[in-house]
Amino acid sequence: MKQLTIALAKGRLMDETIKLFNSKGIAIDYEENSRKLIFESKDGTLKFLIVRAQDVATYVEGNGADLGVAGLDVLTENKKDVFELMDLNIGKCTVVVAGKTRNYPDTPTQLKVATKFVNITDEFFAKKGMTIEIIKLYGSIELAGVIGLADCIVDIVSTGQTLKENGLYIIEKITESSAFLVANHVSYYTKNEEITKLIELLK
Ligand code: PRP
Repeated sequence: MKQLTIALAKGRLMDETIKLFNSKGIAIDYEENSRKLIFESKDGTLKFLIVRAQDVATYVEGNGADLGVAGLDVLTENKKDVFELMDLNIGKCTVVVAGKTRNYPDTPTQLKVATKFVNITDEFFAKKGMTIEIIKLYGSIELAGVIGLADCIVDIVSTGQTLKENGLYIIEKITESSAFLVANHVSYYTKNEEITKLIELLK
Protein backbone atom coordinates (compact mmCIF):
# COMPACT_ATOMS: atom_id res chain seq x y z
CA MET A 1 0.00 0.00 0.00
CA LYS A 2 1.21 3.50 -0.83
CA GLN A 3 1.22 6.10 1.95
CA LEU A 4 -1.28 8.96 1.61
CA THR A 5 -0.32 12.50 2.61
CA ILE A 6 -3.20 14.59 3.96
CA ALA A 7 -3.11 18.35 4.58
CA LEU A 8 -5.11 19.38 7.64
CA ALA A 9 -6.21 22.87 8.69
CA LYS A 10 -4.72 23.92 12.01
CA GLY A 11 -7.30 24.63 14.74
CA ARG A 12 -10.86 23.53 15.46
CA LEU A 13 -11.27 21.69 12.15
CA MET A 14 -8.12 19.65 12.74
CA ASP A 15 -9.37 18.49 16.15
CA GLU A 16 -12.69 17.45 14.60
CA THR A 17 -10.90 15.67 11.75
CA ILE A 18 -8.66 13.68 14.11
CA LYS A 19 -11.72 12.76 16.19
CA LEU A 20 -13.53 11.60 13.03
CA PHE A 21 -10.55 9.48 11.88
CA ASN A 22 -10.20 7.97 15.38
CA SER A 23 -13.91 7.14 15.48
CA LYS A 24 -13.50 5.24 12.19
CA GLY A 25 -10.71 3.12 13.62
CA ILE A 26 -7.77 5.13 12.26
CA ALA A 27 -5.51 5.65 15.28
CA ILE A 28 -3.35 8.77 15.02
CA ASP A 29 -0.16 9.62 16.89
CA TYR A 30 -0.76 13.26 17.67
CA GLU A 31 0.31 15.16 20.78
CA GLU A 32 -1.83 18.23 21.28
CA ASN A 33 0.92 20.58 22.45
CA SER A 34 3.49 19.41 19.96
CA ARG A 35 4.94 21.94 17.48
CA LYS A 36 5.65 19.21 14.91
CA LEU A 37 4.09 19.97 11.53
CA ILE A 38 4.08 16.38 10.31
CA PHE A 39 2.68 13.30 12.05
CA GLU A 40 1.45 9.86 11.04
CA SER A 41 -1.33 7.38 11.69
CA LYS A 42 -0.20 4.60 14.02
CA ASP A 43 -0.15 2.05 11.17
CA GLY A 44 1.94 4.43 9.02
CA THR A 45 -0.52 4.44 6.08
CA LEU A 46 -1.35 8.12 6.49
CA LYS A 47 0.93 11.13 6.87
CA PHE A 48 -0.62 14.42 8.02
CA LEU A 49 0.66 17.93 7.31
CA ILE A 50 -0.51 20.80 9.53
CA VAL A 51 -1.15 23.93 7.45
CA ARG A 52 -3.28 27.08 7.60
CA ALA A 53 -6.92 26.54 6.52
CA GLN A 54 -6.42 28.84 3.50
CA ASP A 55 -3.40 26.78 2.39
CA VAL A 56 -4.91 23.26 2.41
CA ALA A 57 -6.06 23.35 -1.23
CA THR A 58 -2.80 25.01 -2.31
CA TYR A 59 -0.83 22.04 -0.91
CA VAL A 60 -3.21 19.59 -2.59
CA GLU A 61 -3.27 21.37 -5.96
CA GLY A 62 0.51 21.78 -5.95
CA ASN A 63 1.20 18.10 -5.23
CA GLY A 64 2.43 18.77 -1.68
CA ALA A 65 -0.33 16.51 -0.39
CA ASP A 66 -2.48 13.79 -1.99
CA LEU A 67 -5.52 14.78 0.02
CA GLY A 68 -6.73 17.61 2.20
CA VAL A 69 -9.54 18.46 4.58
CA ALA A 70 -10.90 21.94 4.00
CA GLY A 71 -14.09 23.90 4.58
CA LEU A 72 -16.32 24.53 1.57
CA ASP A 73 -16.21 28.23 2.53
CA VAL A 74 -12.45 28.38 2.04
CA LEU A 75 -12.56 26.15 -1.07
CA THR A 76 -15.19 28.40 -2.67
CA GLU A 77 -13.18 31.49 -1.78
CA ASN A 78 -9.87 30.20 -3.13
CA LYS A 79 -11.09 28.28 -6.22
CA LYS A 80 -8.23 25.76 -6.45
CA ASP A 81 -8.11 22.94 -8.98
CA VAL A 82 -8.78 19.92 -6.71
CA PHE A 83 -11.36 17.12 -6.67
CA GLU A 84 -14.01 17.49 -3.96
CA LEU A 85 -14.37 13.82 -2.98
CA MET A 86 -16.72 13.75 -0.03
CA ASP A 87 -18.56 15.87 2.51
CA LEU A 88 -17.18 14.85 5.92
CA ASN A 89 -20.09 16.49 7.74
CA ILE A 90 -17.80 18.20 10.24
CA GLY A 91 -16.80 21.84 10.61
CA LYS A 92 -20.34 22.94 9.84
CA CYS A 93 -20.88 26.68 9.65
CA THR A 94 -22.73 29.37 7.72
CA VAL A 95 -21.21 32.28 5.84
CA VAL A 96 -23.28 35.34 6.77
CA VAL A 97 -23.51 39.09 6.50
CA ALA A 98 -23.69 40.52 10.02
CA GLY A 99 -23.88 43.94 11.60
CA LYS A 100 -25.01 45.98 14.58
CA THR A 101 -28.65 45.73 13.47
CA ARG A 102 -30.70 43.05 11.72
CA ASN A 103 -30.90 45.13 8.54
CA TYR A 104 -28.36 46.81 6.30
CA PRO A 105 -27.53 50.24 7.73
CA ASP A 106 -28.30 53.34 5.65
CA THR A 107 -25.07 54.88 4.53
CA PRO A 108 -24.53 58.01 2.44
CA THR A 109 -21.61 56.30 0.70
CA GLN A 110 -20.95 52.75 -0.51
CA LEU A 111 -21.53 50.02 2.07
CA LYS A 112 -18.20 49.10 3.67
CA VAL A 113 -17.90 45.35 4.24
CA ALA A 114 -15.07 43.80 6.25
CA THR A 115 -14.17 40.19 5.47
CA LYS A 116 -11.50 37.62 4.74
CA PHE A 117 -13.84 36.13 2.08
CA VAL A 118 -13.26 38.77 -0.59
CA ASN A 119 -14.44 36.70 -3.58
CA ILE A 120 -17.56 35.28 -1.89
CA THR A 121 -18.47 38.80 -0.71
CA ASP A 122 -17.83 40.37 -4.12
CA GLU A 123 -19.96 37.79 -5.90
CA PHE A 124 -22.79 37.91 -3.33
CA PHE A 125 -23.23 41.70 -3.45
CA ALA A 126 -22.73 41.85 -7.23
CA LYS A 127 -25.67 39.42 -7.61
CA LYS A 128 -27.75 41.72 -5.42
CA GLY A 129 -26.76 44.61 -7.67
CA MET A 130 -25.03 46.45 -4.81
CA THR A 131 -21.68 48.15 -5.23
CA ILE A 132 -19.68 47.85 -2.04
CA GLU A 133 -16.26 48.67 -0.68
CA ILE A 134 -14.44 45.63 0.72
CA ILE A 135 -12.07 45.92 3.66
CA LYS A 136 -9.87 42.83 3.63
CA LEU A 137 -8.98 41.49 7.09
CA TYR A 138 -7.28 38.29 8.21
CA GLY A 139 -9.04 37.54 11.53
CA SER A 140 -11.24 38.90 14.34
CA ILE A 141 -13.53 40.16 11.56
CA GLU A 142 -16.35 40.90 14.03
CA LEU A 143 -14.28 43.69 15.57
CA ALA A 144 -14.54 45.76 12.38
CA GLY A 145 -18.34 45.68 12.70
CA VAL A 146 -18.25 46.50 16.39
CA ILE A 147 -15.97 49.53 16.24
CA GLY A 148 -17.36 50.83 12.95
CA LEU A 149 -14.35 50.24 10.70
CA ALA A 150 -16.99 48.69 8.40
CA ASP A 151 -20.80 49.00 8.08
CA CYS A 152 -21.13 45.21 8.18
CA ILE A 153 -19.02 42.07 7.99
CA VAL A 154 -19.04 38.79 6.06
CA ASP A 155 -17.79 35.91 8.17
CA ILE A 156 -18.61 32.38 9.26
CA VAL A 157 -20.93 31.60 12.13
CA SER A 158 -20.68 28.27 13.88
CA THR A 159 -22.15 28.35 17.40
CA GLY A 160 -23.13 32.03 17.08
CA GLN A 161 -21.24 32.81 20.29
CA THR A 162 -18.81 35.32 18.75
CA LEU A 163 -21.61 37.40 17.20
CA LYS A 164 -23.63 37.28 20.42
CA GLU A 165 -20.77 38.25 22.72
CA ASN A 166 -19.94 41.19 20.46
CA GLY A 167 -23.49 42.45 20.01
CA LEU A 168 -23.79 41.66 16.31
CA TYR A 169 -26.75 40.20 14.37
CA ILE A 170 -27.11 38.16 11.21
CA ILE A 171 -28.44 40.35 8.39
CA GLU A 172 -28.43 37.67 5.66
CA LYS A 173 -27.18 34.13 5.16
CA ILE A 174 -24.92 33.64 2.15
CA THR A 175 -24.15 29.91 2.13
CA GLU A 176 -23.81 26.81 4.30
CA SER A 177 -20.41 25.15 4.66
CA SER A 178 -18.88 21.95 5.97
CA ALA A 179 -15.52 20.25 5.58
CA PHE A 180 -14.74 18.28 2.42
CA LEU A 181 -12.11 15.69 1.66
CA VAL A 182 -10.31 16.97 -1.44
CA ALA A 183 -7.78 15.24 -3.69
CA ASN A 184 -4.92 16.08 -5.99
CA HIS A 185 -5.86 15.16 -9.60
CA VAL A 186 -2.84 12.93 -10.23
CA SER A 187 -2.93 11.24 -6.79
CA TYR A 188 -6.60 10.43 -7.36
CA TYR A 189 -5.51 8.11 -10.19
CA THR A 190 -2.07 6.94 -9.02
CA LYS A 191 -3.25 6.19 -5.47
CA ASN A 192 -6.86 5.36 -6.29
CA GLU A 193 -6.90 2.09 -4.36
CA GLU A 194 -5.68 3.75 -1.15
CA ILE A 195 -8.00 6.76 -1.56
CA THR A 196 -11.04 4.57 -2.26
CA LYS A 197 -10.27 2.52 0.84
CA LEU A 198 -10.03 5.65 2.97
CA ILE A 199 -13.33 7.01 1.60
CA GLU A 200 -15.03 3.68 2.43
CA LEU A 201 -13.67 3.88 5.99
CA LEU A 202 -14.81 7.45 6.45
CA LYS A 203 -18.36 6.84 5.17
C1 PRP B 1 -14.15 31.97 13.30
C2 PRP B 1 -14.99 33.07 12.65
C3 PRP B 1 -15.73 33.67 13.80
C4 PRP B 1 -15.92 32.48 14.74
C5 PRP B 1 -17.32 31.97 14.65
O1 PRP B 1 -13.03 32.56 13.83
O2 PRP B 1 -14.17 33.97 11.95
O3 PRP B 1 -14.99 34.68 14.41
O4 PRP B 1 -15.01 31.47 14.34
O5 PRP B 1 -17.53 30.90 15.54
P1 PRP B 1 -18.75 30.89 16.57
O6 PRP B 1 -20.01 31.21 15.80
O7 PRP B 1 -18.75 29.46 17.08
O8 PRP B 1 -18.47 31.89 17.65
P2 PRP B 1 -11.70 31.76 14.14
O9 PRP B 1 -11.80 31.17 15.50
O10 PRP B 1 -11.42 30.82 13.04
O11 PRP B 1 -10.64 32.92 14.19
P3 PRP B 1 -10.37 34.20 13.28
O12 PRP B 1 -10.96 35.35 14.02
O13 PRP B 1 -8.88 34.26 13.23
O14 PRP B 1 -10.99 34.03 11.93
